[in-house]
Amino acid sequence: MLASVMIIAHISDTHLDNGERALARTRRVMRYLRSCTVDAILVSGDLADHGEIHEYEQVKAELTADVPVLMLPGNHDGRSAYRKVLLDGGGDAPINQLHRVGGALFALCDSSIPGRDDGLLAAETLAWLRGVVATADAPVFVGLHHHPIALHNPLVDGIRLVNADELAAIIVDSPQVVAVLCGHAHAAAAGTFAGRPLLAAPGVVSATRLPWTTDEELTWTNTADLDDPPGVAFHVLDDNGTLTTHFRVAPA
Ligand SMILES: [Fe+2]
Ligand SMILES: [Fe+2]
Repeated sequence: MLASVMIIAHISDTHLDNGERALARTRRVMRYLRSCTVDAILVSGDLADHGEIHEYEQVKAELTADVPVLMLPGNHDGRSAYRKVLLDGGGDAPINQLHRVGGALFALCDSSIPGRDDGLLAAETLAWLRGVVATADAPVFVGLHHHPIALHNPLVDGIRLVNADELAAIIVDSPQVVAVLCGHAHAAAAGTFAGRPLLAAPGVVSATRLPWTTDEELTWTNTADLDDPPGVAFHVLDDNGTLTTHFRVAPA
């Protein structure tokens, strides 16, 4: 008999800016996901491009579905505007949120550093996460924007999570943590971190070119592959606790 499963659709980096490109690609992905049978959709940061109110109005209008759409902030987001539009609040404190969907918990951490592109889990975020995993009564997915390991792409590795060791120290002692889910690299990628799967969703707005796929020297001006179609990671958790991830391109 097949095990029952929970399916999380994971996308990232919509960079909505009220421009046509980000909007068209976001709509393409969301249209695809609404046609799929999933339990939740996770959007792992850089929801907006400049962290402005009008961009979050677009995020709120476009990232909708009949299942929970879970979000977290990235380096292109702005906490104040994010809170105002998406959370009916305000303030600049890290946006850390715990969600329960079906039989799993999603501990979504704010790894942004206001005004910077690299990432850091602040002391209050680490303390919050420690508390979440210590009391978890279900499998936990830890979500954050910045990748905590090198993905061997020098540009994005230069702006990854700075204090990955502090995150690893929490996870390594927490058997409830199933996987760490991130974005930021604009790359569908899989690795390991603190003994768990580390899974990066592809970027909706663009993909970063990999150094070994081109003879060009990659810089921030030429690293984005604007023709690569937007994609999705589907994380499948079965009731034996086994996690499988499938990567798919969203049909045009
Ligand atoms: Fe991004
Ligand atoms: Fe980012």
